[in-house]
Amino acid sequence: EAAEKGGYDHYMLKEIHEQPGALRQTLSGRVDEVAGDVDLDVDLSSEVLADVEEIQLVACGTSYHAGLYARRLLEEFADVRVTVEVASEYEFTGGRDPWETLVVAVTQSGETADTLSAMRKAAKAGARTLAVTNTVGSTAAREADDALYIRAGPEIGVAATKTFAAQVTALSLLTVHIGRRRGALSSERASNLLENLRGLPGAVQQLLDASERLEAVASEYVDEDAYFFVGRKLGAAVALEGALKLKEIAYVHAEGFPSGELKHGTLALVTEDTPVLTVLTEGARPKETLNNVKEVESRGAPVIGFSSYDAAANYLDVEIPIPDLGALEPLVANVGLQLFAYHVANELGRAIDKPRNLAKSVTVE
Ligand code: AGP
Repeated sequence: EAAEKGGYDHYMLKEIHEQPGALRQTLSGRVDEVAGDVDLDVDLSSEVLADVEEIQLVACGTSYHAGLYARRLLEEFADVRVTVEVASEYEFTGGRDPWETLVVAVTQSGETADTLSAMRKAAKAGARTLAVTNTVGSTAAREADDALYIRAGPEIGVAATKTFAAQVTALSLLTVHIGRRRGALSSERASNLLENLRGLPGAVQQLLDASERLEAVASEYVDEDAYFFVGRKLGAAVALEGALKLKEIAYVHAEGFPSGELKHGTLALVTEDTPVLTVLTEGARPKETLNNVKEVESRGAPVIGFSSYDAAANYLDVEIPIPDLGALEPLVANVGLQLFAYHVANELGRAIDKPRNLAKSVTVE
């Protein structure tokens, strides 16, 4: 087993570090930056997509957070109506012709019972379905009309890490595919997004190179009452994911939500013993988020910022710089949140790869 961990103490840490390579695989052979287009092996032609009125993303846990990220990308770059729903809450509400709805099941394993059941509900109603999955031959891949593989390689740690990054990357490619075929995305804008995708593995590597710093930050803030994760827009999706990671492997109370919601309740819980981790990057409305950061800072909460926004520096106790990467900056920030969660859990001596009460693939509803 030690050999399989490749010198890392845990599969989770190994898989966090595998992200640059995994993302290169996700992108491999699929990107034409010059033409501003992608080549995905899916049966979603311009004719089919012209009829699509709404895209419904269904997923659980981390995959749901990838769906939240993708919703904003699809809205912004493909100009299409999108809903995202936790699979166990999903009820099919399609257009008059069910084929006007494309239902995208996002599932690493392709075996999550809640997600399969949502997908089946949609298919039964006549909707077109697409599975975005890591697992070739999985139930989701076999049952959906189409499958888009994220190609992250096997993930052993119960906590999803590299597969989240690969899901968002694959969904970004899908966004370009749909945007171009619906005539909503110019080749210039597409090229720009694709250029950022090409830069993603290198940017993630930069965060991984700051791993020791995050280990030190984690050990400074290991013993706190609770942790809040906040951001806006794409940063809100990442905030939810950062909190989930910390909860599941460190067994500490953490909450993630859009930063604008702080003042509507949670601010009452903020003290000098509740660190606030925040995403202050492009795609995460950093100016507005900073206003919320000031609210917690003035109440003495330590603020850890994953930031490409210079104006924030004075308000942060810890600043982790995020390289320029447009709409993908929050995804890079997420790697920092993964490392923070990992090192907090490690300091606490938790069973990181197999957290209590949890399974890698949840096959019951
Ligand atoms: C993530 O760290 C969790 N282990 C969990 O939330 C997971 O993402 C969820 O169960 C969905 O799994 P799937 O992607 O295989 O469908």
